[in-house]
Amino acid sequence: MRRNPWFETVAEAQRRARKRLPGSVYDALVAGSERGRTIDDNMAAFAELGFAPRVVGHHAERDLSTTILGVPTALPVLISPTGVQAVDPEGEVAVARAAASRGVIMGLSSFASRPVEEVALAQPDLFFQLYWSGTRATMVQRMDRARAAGAKALIVTLDWSFSHGRDWGSPAIPDRIDLRTALRFAPDVLPRPGWLWRFARSGRVPDLTVPNLAAPGGAAPTFFGAYGEWMQTAPPTWDDVAWLREEWGGPFLLKGVSRVDDARRAVDAGVSALSVSNHGGNNLDTTPATIRLLPAIADAVGGQVEVLLDGGVRRGGDVAKALALGARAVLIGRAYLWGLAANGQTGVENVLDILRGGLDSAVLGLGHSSVHELGPGDLAVPPGFRLTLGSEELPAARAAHAAGPTAA
Ligand SMILES: Cc1cc2nc3c(=O)[nH]c(=O)nc-3n(C[C@H](O)[C@H](O)[C@H](O)COP(=O)(O)O)c2cc1C
Repeated sequence: MRRNPWFETVAEAQRRARKRLPGSVYDALVAGSERGRTIDDNMAAFAELGFAPRVVGHHAERDLSTTILGVPTALPVLISPTGVQAVDPEGEVAVARAAASRGVIMGLSSFASRPVEEVALAQPDLFFQLYWSGTRATMVQRMDRARAAGAKALIVTLDWSFSHGRDWGSPAIPDRIDLRTALRFAPDVLPRPGWLWRFARSGRVPDLTVPNLAAPGGAAPTFFGAYGEWMQTAPPTWDDVAWLREEWGGPFLLKGVSRVDDARRAVDAGVSALSVSNHGGNNLDTTPATIRLLPAIADAVGGQVEVLLDGGVRRGGDVAKALALGARAVLIGRAYLWGLAANGQTGVENVLDILRGGLDSAVLGLGHSSVHELGPGDLAVPPGFRLTLGSEELPAARAAHAAGPTAA
C-alpha cells in the first residue's frame, strides 16, 4: 500500500525527514548543544501545561488571524529564520511559497542559501534576520539590501555564544561541494537516493554559500567564511542595538531574550518586539525552556512591545498555550524544517495546516471565538512552572524583610 504523503503530526514529519536525509544533514537540523537539556525542555515544558476546556457555548466561527509588527497574518505563527536549507533544492524559496500559500510571514536568515530578492518575490511578507557580524558599514549595506528587496521588518538575533560541543556529536559539514567532497560524503549520501534524486531533478547541488552576506558585486561567501567573520566581531552593547534600530528605522524584532532585565533594556533601546528564545536550545545548554520564562517577560514589557516566543513549538496546542501565557505569536524552526525535508514546499504547507488545525481545536474547545481571547485561565499551570530570570524586583517576602519590622 502506498503511504499517504500527507502527515498528521510534526513528529511524523521528523520521522520521514530522518529516513530521507543523509545523516549529516539530519544531524545539522537536530543541532542543540552540550547535554541537550534546553532543547528537550523547550518541548517537554509545553506538555507540562494542561488545558481547561469548556463544554458548552463553543463558537461556530473562529478567527485565528492577527498582526505581527503591523503585518497581517492568517495565523499567530511566523517562520523563524534558519541558516542554509540544503535540505531541499528549492530551500528558502520553497518555504516562502508555502508561507505565502498559507498567509504566514517568513523570517529569512542572513545565513540562508537563497538571495533575499528571490525569496521576497515568493513571499513579500518577509522579515530579514541579521547577526551582529562585520563592520558597521557592512551591516548598513546588508540592511539596505534587505530593505530594497522589500523586507518589512528586521530581526536581530543576539543569543549565540559559539558553543559547539554536543554529547551526541556534531555532523561533518563541508565548506563547499566539489568532486572531492562529493566522494568523501558518498557513504552518507548514497543510502538516501530520494534526497539525491530531488537535487538531480532540479539541476542544483546543495548550496553551502550565503548570498545575503556577499559584498556588493562580490561572490557569496561560504557558510564557514561568514561564520568566521561573525566570530571575530566584538559582541554588541545596548548602544549598538539602539544604533542598529536607528539605522533600520522600521519595525525591529530582537530575538533571543531570556531575562526580564534584558527585556526592559531592549525596550529602552527602542525595539518594537522581542522573542523569548534560546535559539532552539542551541545557545547555553540548561537555559530553561522559553515557555517557562514567557509569563514574567510578558508581564514586564508586554504593554510596551510585542512579545513573541520560539523554541519547542510542534503543535497547534503549543501555539495556544504560548498565546494564553502572553505571547502575541510564536516562531517555528525545526517544525517547518522537518516538513521541508519530508515533502518540500508541500511538507511546509502540511506543517502549517497541522498547526492551524491544532490551534483551531484549542480555541474551539476553550470556548473562544478568537486567538486574542486566550488567557491564563485556559490553562492548568503546575506550581513552580513559571520562572523569572534577571528580575530586579525583590520577591515579596524579601522585600518585606528588607523594609524592616512593621509597627503592629
Ligand atoms: C538548523 C537551525 C538553524 C538555525 N539558524 C538560525 C539562523 O540562521 N538565524 C536565527 O536567528 N536563528 C536560527 N535558528 C534558531 C531558530 O530561528 C529558532 O530560534 C529555533 O529553531 C526555535 O526552536 P524550534 O526549532 O524548537 O522551533 C536555527 C535553528 C536551527 C534548528
